Amino acid sequence: MTKKRFGLIIDILMYALLLAQMLYIFIGNNVHEILGIAFFVCLVIHLIIKGWWFKSLFKKNKTASFRFFDILTCLLILTVFVLMFSSMGVSRLIFPWFKVLGSADLHRYLATAVLTLSAVHGGMHMIRRAEKKRRAVTIVVLAAIAAFSIGMFAIPYLNRHFRSVDIAFSDKIKGEQVEWKGSKPLIVYFTRLGNTDFEPDVDAVSGASLLRSDGELFGSNQLLSYMIGDIISCNPVAITLTGKLYPSSYNSTIAVAGDELRAKARPDIEPIDVSGYDSIILIYPLWWGSIPMPVATFLEQNDFTGKTIYLIASQGSSGYGKTVSEIEELCPGATVVPGTSIYCEDITDSREKLLELIKEWNK
Ligand SMILES: Cc1cc2nc3c(=O)[nH]c(=O)nc-3n(C[C@H](O)[C@H](O)[C@H](O)COP(=O)(O)O)c2cc1C
Repeated sequence: MTKKRFGLIIDILMYALLLAQMLYIFIGNNVHEILGIAFFVCLVIHLIIKGWWFKSLFKKNKTASFRFFDILTCLLILTVFVLMFSSMGVSRLIFPWFKVLGSADLHRYLATAVLTLSAVHGGMHMIRRAEKKRRAVTIVVLAAIAAFSIGMFAIPYLNRHFRSVDIAFSDKIKGEQVEWKGSKPLIVYFTRLGNTDFEPDVDAVSGASLLRSDGELFGSNQLLSYMIGDIISCNPVAITLTGKLYPSSYNSTIAVAGDELRAKARPDIEPIDVSGYDSIILIYPLWWGSIPMPVATFLEQNDFTGKTIYLIASQGSSGYGKTVSEIEELCPGATVVPGTSIYCEDITDSREKLLELIKEWNK
């Protein structure tokens, strides 16, 4: 194999590895890190093969396009090396001890910059060889805009759904309190945390919708239930699986939850006895527009006849979905009172809204 052909294979491999790494939410952390190592091995080979370019860097009498290529390539090399350090900073598998540049956000923006600059860098080689220069330039500009846009649109999405948010837990839950009318209700909630097979140092992606306070993790619905608990001075109770937990990956959990819903599964949970209560405040996330199946287990395990069930849902867009009618069906004889359905991004600042809701229920 000629050196040129080998170099071309390495170049193609580098682009493939870069794109594959962008599919983090599908491939998971470990594969992402291993592909990252493969990428940097290819990069070193690429730099050795293209060693002549470094020697030509300070040559005089270069055309403007060659100078532009040089500047862009220097910028790309610099960005790739900072990306390498940020990869180590967020690594959990290979470099867990490396604590510099450990920001997942920085890592994602650097990856977007590398992808965009790589598109222009490779594109300029293509333009040089192309017969129809204008067409080649258009393709390269479009590829660079696509690479940049994917990164810029993907990052806010990832941040919304796949990030653990730092909060001051007690600041969020503590505030004005009100007396609950009549006898105290039972607050019951379901959240992924505690029901998921998380690794101890759960990362930004698998930790989707998790909240972190002083190094401790909290689920979104757990936070909502603690807010309610503080408002009416009650201790919330979690619906907890006793059997198989949900997978740590957010996407795998979505797939498992979809299978459970179709199969009308009733996963085993720690029993929760509601018999001593007139009212229950049920706090749950929407899963596939429905209640998570462990919530269905809880509702079926108890007799709610004559009781009032107040609902607080959390979701990524779907309001209550089908959950109100599902709960009514599972709890014949109960009065079901929808309270509010909270958008996942608003959860941490919902205490005021919940306080008003409790006051409304108390009237
Ligand atoms: C398996 C699964 C399915 C989901 N399905 C929906 C859905 O159908 N509609 C929606 O608006 N949000 C959906 N979401 C988003 C959750 O309702 C939302 O992120 C919730 O706040 C998570 O709460 P938790 O962190 O306490 O578990 C889903 C999340 C998961 C994990």
